Amino acid sequence: MQKELVRANAANAELRGCRNDRWYPRFHIAAPAGWINDPNGISHFNGRYHVFFQHYPYSSTWGPMHWGHVSSEDMVTWRREPIAFAPSTEADLDGVYSGSAFEHRGRLEVFYTGHRWFADRGEAREVQCRAVSEDGVSFEKLGVVIDAPEGIGDFRDPKVWRIGEIWHMVVAARSLENRGQVWLYTSTDLQNWTFEGVLFEDPDPNVFMLECPDFFPLGEHWVLLYGPMGTAPRGFVNRNAHNSGYVVGNWAPGQAFEPLTEYLPLDWGHNFYAPQSFEAPDGRRIVYAWMGHFERPIPPQLTDGWSGQLTVPRELTLNPDLRVRSQPIAELERLRADSTAVGTLKLEVNEERLLLADADAVEIELSLDLAATTAERVGLRVHETPDGTHTFVGYDAITHRVVLDRRLTGQGDRGHRAAPAGGGENLRLRILVDRGSIEVFVNGGEAAISSFSFPNEGPRSVTISSEAGTAAVDQLTIHTLRSIWPAE
Ligand code: FRU
Repeated sequence: MQKELVRANAANAELRGCRNDRWYPRFHIAAPAGWINDPNGISHFNGRYHVFFQHYPYSSTWGPMHWGHVSSEDMVTWRREPIAFAPSTEADLDGVYSGSAFEHRGRLEVFYTGHRWFADRGEAREVQCRAVSEDGVSFEKLGVVIDAPEGIGDFRDPKVWRIGEIWHMVVAARSLENRGQVWLYTSTDLQNWTFEGVLFEDPDPNVFMLECPDFFPLGEHWVLLYGPMGTAPRGFVNRNAHNSGYVVGNWAPGQAFEPLTEYLPLDWGHNFYAPQSFEAPDGRRIVYAWMGHFERPIPPQLTDGWSGQLTVPRELTLNPDLRVRSQPIAELERLRADSTAVGTLKLEVNEERLLLADADAVEIELSLDLAATTAERVGLRVHETPDGTHTFVGYDAITHRVVLDRRLTGQGDRGHRAAPAGGGENLRLRILVDRGSIEVFVNGGEAAISSFSFPNEGPRSVTISSEAGTAAVDQLTIHTLRSIWPAE
């Protein structure tokens, strides 16, 4: 193994020894220790699913990027693999940045961005690089395939896919006029790439970069997914330091992309960025995203030796109204260890009921009859510890939205997020609670909210409450969830 990788794996193992697990995920992909950001190279190869991620194995802060790696037969339980890439070449000495992977002729092909930073000039140089693997675990770097265009510093995150005999690649670029663009390249041999033009430019002149572009067919249309940099908050949208969303449109090879929607969020939570999708062997479009924060340290980063996790895998489908629906892949139900059907409930005015005294990793399915509910807010206090701190997840009748409220959360950032509650009289929530995060899926994935939530010391209870009115719960089921790491 290359000496940089030996050193990185050894450092990671040493840091692992200092990890504190109070918030370490049970059913989300995370590094054994250290920092992670974007999911990379999600693929199926040699009978296993592979997920890589941006990783700094030496400490829990961002640093020269490596690619961490895990693999799985079923996307339910995972095996940790050695770190796949470390900075080692002239092109990637300051970071092996994000990219994609796919199987081709019995090998795993990887395209990533080689990052260089020249502090004296305050300039980045980013190029697209290729690597291959025979076994999916150790890789040979094949060098630069697309050089940095003259004057373009931000040029990264290649996502490659195939149509017939032609390979296509989208890359994010900051144009000479400081506009956020997605560039399209094609190739017939994966080595020589031709620039086809600008596939998309964000209409907002303040947006200067569209990180991690992903472009794929869904239903009868094409979806362009990206992380616009330079956005300002707009009501409930773009509230985060880094936001991601999508545009749905029409496209065919050789033609211009014709957007049919405005930019829409794929997730309304605090911590959802750099989503990357892949096509599973059965044709499903599945996405993972990063839950993290670039601008402010999260609590485990300060004290626990790790930072960042991925979301659960979500299957994407397209609704007739051109909204992308995302819900946990069906396989995740296999994580359920014990299930308790609480059934129907009628909560009186201001009633509270303890559901779980100590929830480590749970999934809660809650269905509300809104027509028979008069409460202003009805929902769950999760991650509630004996000192009373908690995170609230539920329905807010005043705004007719589903809220995730961290005003009284134990540790970390505060604030709330609110997603549309849909048009029906029945509201279905599926809530995945891990040790340091919460993901909420509304009405079968019409909307999702993914946020960190770091509880204080002590058992973590779950309580259902109805505020200033009654609540009619049609169905309530609680599942405890297993770990995705059988060996740990
Ligand atoms: C997005 C990003 C990518 C880049 C990577 C570096 O989170 O900034 O554009 O490739 O992270 O870690």
